Amino acid sequence: MKTYLIEKYGDQSAVHAAELPDPQPGPEDVLVEIHAASVNPLDFKIRDGAFKRILPYRLPLVLGNDLAGVVVRVGSSVTRFAVGDEVYARPDKDRIGTFAELIAVHQDDLAPKPAVLTMAQAASLPLVALTSWQALVEKAQVRPGQKVLIHAGSGGVGTIALQLARHLGAHVATTASAANADLVKELGADVVIDYRAQDFEQLLDGYDVVLDTLGGETLEKSLRVLKPGGKVISIAGPPDADFARELGANPLLRQAMNALSFRTRRRAKRHGVTYSFLFMKADGGQLRELTRFVDAGQIHPVVDRVFPFDRTRDAMEYAEKGRAKAGKVVIAME
Ligand SMILES: NC(=O)c1ccc[n+]([C@@H]2O[C@H](COP(=O)([O-])OP(=O)(O)OC[C@H]3O[C@@H](n4cnc5c(N)ncnc54)[C@H](OP(=O)(O)O)[C@@H]3O)[C@@H](O)[C@H]2O)c1
Repeated sequence: MKTYLIEKYGDQSAVHAAELPDPQPGPEDVLVEIHAASVNPLDFKIRDGAFKRILPYRLPLVLGNDLAGVVVRVGSSVTRFAVGDEVYARPDKDRIGTFAELIAVHQDDLAPKPAVLTMAQAASLPLVALTSWQALVEKAQVRPGQKVLIHAGSGGVGTIALQLARHLGAHVATTASAANADLVKELGADVVIDYRAQDFEQLLDGYDVVLDTLGGETLEKSLRVLKPGGKVISIAGPPDADFARELGANPLLRQAMNALSFRTRRRAKRHGVTYSFLFMKADGGQLRELTRFVDAGQIHPVVDRVFPFDRTRDAMEYAEKGRAKAGKVVIAME
């Protein structure tokens, strides 16, 4: 099969096309012919080697964290999928590799593709939709009437998180550039802050939840727009002890990770709020729930541009250089 992979960590010049043997599905695996994949900032971080301590991949490594496609074979213990099913997934972090013609995915990580979407639209969703779900539903437990701030509302995560927060009945504020103000309003934002011209900290107060997609100064300021008891869930800030535990890190690494968020957690405590880091997980069950929202028209994907598979490197470069106006960059095999 044709793939896009790295043989060593590095910049975009490390990514190249290569033929690999077709994957052989294990008993619980589903072999999927990939029709579309999407690009995430995670792909660049993995390619750079930024995560090699916490995600120790064996090289060569096929890149890509999102897929939509058709089942072509099932393992002997697979009960939930059959040949010919249209599916989508964010495969487990240890079994990535969707910039390829085929992939074997554990059946627990897979869900039926939303019927109303094309393959390209479906492939844009799993990682960002699961991230939004795990942040807003699982961690923050957002309830109707709560005030929720979502940073970077026009980004891959933001475009879905805004729609989910609206669906959960929250009052939603977001940061985006002025050119994307109309889009983020359509997606569910009640308040839009142009982050290039305005300081969100001066304009917002008494929030229950912040979804921080940026880290750094944005995270620091976010602590100050919450009301006492409020929560910052960050997908871009320093890791915390819960994440280290989930990862199964050894005690030394666990301590080191916890130390990285010490300052942020101390500041949060001073403000009477809590900080937690989220590293999203593959979850076919949650993806099935999301499929229902999508098929009901409550969440729809935002796709900026679709590239053909043989231009995977261009697709990555386009996304990495921030050329997308809003939403996701997709790679389609069809
Ligand atoms: N921990 C996890 O599990 C997890 C999961 C998913 C993503 N992430 C991380 O979360 C981050 C966001 O991911 P993504 O897929 O949404 O990225 P993305 O699609 O590349 O987001 C880009 C968006 O960020 C906006 N932006 C840039 N600077 C901003 C600022 N100062 N304030 C507000 N918005 C700003 C831009 O908005 P305009 O175009 O409107 O200017 C752009 O639309 C990445 O670092 C990614 O690695 C982590």
